[in-house]
Amino acid sequence: MAVETLSGKVFFLITGASRGIGKQIAVSFGSILEDGSHALLLAKNLTALKETAKNIPSNITVDTVSVDLSKATEDELHKIIMQSLKDKTPEQFDRLVVVHNVGTMGDISKTTNDMSDLTTWHNYYDLNVFIPAILNGVVMKIFNENTNTEKTVVNITSLFAIKPTRYTGYYCTGKAAREMFFKVFALENPQVNVLNYSPGPVETDMLHEVCEQHADQEVKAHMNELVTKKIVLTCKQTVTRLLEILKDHKYTSGDHVDYYDEL
Ligand SMILES: NC(=O)c1ccc[n+]([C@@H]2O[C@H](COP(=O)([O-])OP(=O)(O)OC[C@H]3O[C@@H](n4cnc5c(N)ncnc54)[C@H](OP(=O)(O)O)[C@@H]3O)[C@@H](O)[C@H]2O)c1
Repeated sequence: MAVETLSGKVFFLITGASRGIGKQIAVSFGSILEDGSHALLLAKNLTALKETAKNIPSNITVDTVSVDLSKATEDELHKIIMQSLKDKTPEQFDRLVVVHNVGTMGDISKTTNDMSDLTTWHNYYDLNVFIPAILNGVVMKIFNENTNTEKTVVNITSLFAIKPTRYTGYYCTGKAAREMFFKVFALENPQVNVLNYSPGPVETDMLHEVCEQHADQEVKAHMNELVTKKIVLTCKQTVTRLLEILKDHKYTSGDHVDYYDEL
């Protein structure tokens, strides 16, 4: 599939590329990228990141960096990107594509009345909201030097960002806050193509976590039924849809677009 957003020499950065949806985005985007493009894959598990990298064609240079994105500082993130660029400069790339995919469910056994531990709130928001926002600022500052670089930012959001669900206070609020951050970012940066993509229910470790741990028995039963009846999507299905949405580009920058939306 020819996707303009991924054409030319691209600097492609993705978080959470070691498994699940992020791994598939890395592989699918990587197989479309053209010669001279460079992919930077981040997650904690380096061995798994290297497995992802093996599935990206050899005409693309790939860097895999193990980093705990719940603890990374602005300086560390800056260093990771600069080291990945090595002798290349941002100006050498036609496009920048950043995919903020990393995400966790948080504790799905508690009602909002029980979400009273500040450290748990901090830890959840550090990984799911604050550090994605900081990473975005860091990469934009590096690439903003050159105004000719076309920039695309994809935030992997969720239906839960716009639909409240019981026992999902951390996840719903985190996804809503992160999505709103990228909407504000889109308004402030009209030259950047920003997409909040909601991937639908996808069979990954995260979905299995919901099936096993969700405290709402109704939601748990519903999710298990989706898996048993194979109604859930594969990573490939949702990433193919993401590529179509980027290719057709019928959304307004900052929009929340769901897998099932007809555009
Ligand atoms: N699956 C679904 O049905 C679904 C539905 C809607 C939205 N989403 C969203 O899609 C995105 C991907 O979800 P998924 O289902 O693919 O999840 P997943 O299979 O659990 O994968 C999560 C990814 O995040 C990385 N990660 C977790 N904690 C990290 C940390 N502290 N530092 C660095 N990396 C970390 C993991 O790698 P390491 O363990 O190697 O660090 C892994 O690559 C998330 O934003 C999720 O909210 C998923």
